[in-house]
Amino acid sequence: MSPFYCYLVVILSLALASASPPAAASISVSAVEPPRLSNMQQFLRAHNEARAAVGVPPLSWNDTLMMEALRSSDELRRDCEALPRAAWGTDGAYGRNLYRGHGVRRGADAAAFWVEGRRWYDRDANACAAAPPGRCCGAYTQMVWRATTQLGCVRRPCRCARRPCPDVIDTVAVCEYYPPGNYVGQRPY
Ligand SMILES: *[C@@H]1O[C@H](CO)[C@@H](O)[C@H](O)[C@H]1NC(C)=O
Repeated sequence: MSPFYCYLVVILSLALASASPPAAASISVSAVEPPRLSNMQQFLRAHNEARAAVGVPPLSWNDTLMMEALRSSDELRRDCEALPRAAWGTDGAYGRNLYRGHGVRRGADAAAFWVEGRRWYDRDANACAAAPPGRCCGAYTQMVWRATTQLGCVRRPCRCARRPCPDVIDTVAVCEYYPPGNYVGQRPY
């Protein structure tokens, strides 16, 4: 039993983070705004879309896992990084994906970042092929791991205060998975 973890640091461009919507040049014809999905709904939907795309059954939400993600995110918030300082007590019991993004990010942003790992996943070799520095496919393979049935996630603001980092609000996010995936030598699906 040796699940491997893929620790992810997001280097999103600040331009992207500060991009504002285009000036309203036209008046929307619809008075009804589409409902804004909660972060929980965003996490769940992104996972289940990625799973459906490879024919794997959907995950369900679990509040115990969400509380565990909350605890894990406390740890990440201290440094505002997607890198734990030390091993966590539940390492191995749960699968875990980590995210850090510049600026205020939502659950959908974190999940989209993980899903992007699909690009570097080589299913024939069951390996992460030539990912650019700081990127990998391990978060993606956990998302679509067939034997995983439940998840719980959080996204939380953190203050990036360490020099030369500007004193701004960034975001960390954590999903915890049960049963854990990413067992060496097994394919996710
Ligand atoms: C939620 O996850 C915990 C930890 O894996 C588990 O003990 C519990 O039974 C799960 N709850 C449900 C409703 O499946």
